[in-house]
Amino acid sequence: MKRLGILLSGRGSNFEAIADSVGAGRIDAEIAVVLSNRPEARGLEIARSRGLNAVCIPSKGLDREVYDRMVVEELKKNRVDLVCLAGFMRLLSAYFIREFPLRILNIHPSLLPAFPGLDAQHQALEHGVKLSGCTVHFVDENLDSGPILIQTAVPVLDDDTADSLSARILKQEHRIYTEAIRLVLSRKFRIEGRRVIAG
Ligand code: GRF
Repeated sequence: MKRLGILLSGRGSNFEAIADSVGAGRIDAEIAVVLSNRPEARGLEIARSRGLNAVCIPSKGLDREVYDRMVVEELKKNRVDLVCLAGFMRLLSAYFIREFPLRILNIHPSLLPAFPGLDAQHQALEHGVKLSGCTVHFVDENLDSGPILIQTAVPVLDDDTADSLSARILKQEHRIYTEAIRLVLSRKFRIEGRRVIAG
């Protein structure tokens, strides 16, 4: 059975959605490790309460590659096949990416390449777009870059706040992350340039 490694820094609602999908058999894999760079991450607590292997490797003060080597070691120790970033607030080094080629996914709360980086929902409101959404993509060395697996759009309403828009997007995040993991595990896709073609 394939083994997932979940990396997070905070709330962990995407991790919970993935764990629910694993529990319900929608994802044919097991969660081998949930790893956080922040000891206070709520996601870690949830992992523990679900009886999962929860590990904290604090990143504070460490050089990027030194840190990434520690994380990669932990992932390898747990024989992780697919790494899912779920609100992991760090850029990965070239070293990390090379160790897991096309085996690292990320979710971002906008229709990339629009609004990469922090506060994507706020950026969308400020820009005045009428549609936003979320994206699951393969991770490369650049921020919120890498070939796109799945996107879903949601409307931006006139009376939206960053919170109301975030909530609408989050609901879709929880759905498409599972879909993307299923697609990657099925291996029924090919990559042409930046395009991920399913089937
Ligand atoms: C989500 O909006 C995700 O798209 C972004 O960080 C947030 C994490 O939320 N990368 P959660 O920790 O999964 O609840």
